[in-house]
Amino acid sequence: MLNSIGLQNPGVEYFMEYDLPWLKNQDVAVIVNACGSTIEDYVELCKILNKADIDGVELNLSCPNVKAGCLAFGTTYEGVKEVTSKVRKVLDKPLIVKLTPNVTDITLPAKGAEDAGADAVSLINTLLGMSININTRKPYLANNTGGLSGPAVKPVAVRMVYQVSQAVNIPILGMGGIINGNDAVEFMLAGASAVSIGAGNFIDPYTSVNTVKGIEEYMKKHNIENINDIVGKVEMN
Ligand SMILES: Cc1cc2nc3c(=O)[nH]c(=O)nc-3n(C[C@H](O)[C@H](O)[C@H](O)COP(=O)(O)O)c2cc1C
Repeated sequence: MLNSIGLQNPGVEYFMEYDLPWLKNQDVAVIVNACGSTIEDYVELCKILNKADIDGVELNLSCPNVKAGCLAFGTTYEGVKEVTSKVRKVLDKPLIVKLTPNVTDITLPAKGAEDAGADAVSLINTLLGMSININTRKPYLANNTGGLSGPAVKPVAVRMVYQVSQAVNIPILGMGGIINGNDAVEFMLAGASAVSIGAGNFIDPYTSVNTVKGIEEYMKKHNIENINDIVGKVEMN
């Protein structure tokens, strides 16, 4: 999937008044994905979320930093460390820092998150992509470029999860192209303690449920009692 939907949403006050009560009724953990255009945005948002009845915050650092030439916050060690440490001061809840894959060395921003006190990192966000209609010669997306996700990005994501698992000691939430249990197991072998699913939900809204079933089948087949036993257990050639 190549998307350019942006991060439009009704805002944190609306979310807390209308969406959160519904989510709290679903018997699931609620982790809020937070984004901003300046460090002050992230801090203000997390001050509000700190008082909300939620289980944690995931900082989306793929957003352009308007005060730093619109380069994404998550592209450098320093950028990630600065925004994460400022948010850490106002947020007592579990803090996950979500990393962008549009970098040369993913371990540097991951270390920035760890050094600033993040409880976990999640990766990967979408890869910057572009697609052109050869008849009109115009890019398909009105924004010209967009974020690539789904099965096509999985090998990139698995490689980055592995690299980050070798570089930091905090847990990793892995994602990027997961559509079944086998995909999820692959991420866990690479070093992810948990996984998440984005684009797969557009193919089939039951993807998450089926992925859980698939993980259970894998565990039965390989006599694994505790799924944590496979985390990071890839045997490199
Ligand atoms: C339609 C769409 C909207 C997304 N919105 C967000 C977002 O608001 N915040 C964020 O951190 N990532 C967002 N992502 C990225 C996904 O959470 C995920 O990191 C990425 O797509 C790779 O996983 P996947 O292949 O399972 O989708 C979005 C992805 C898609 C496809």
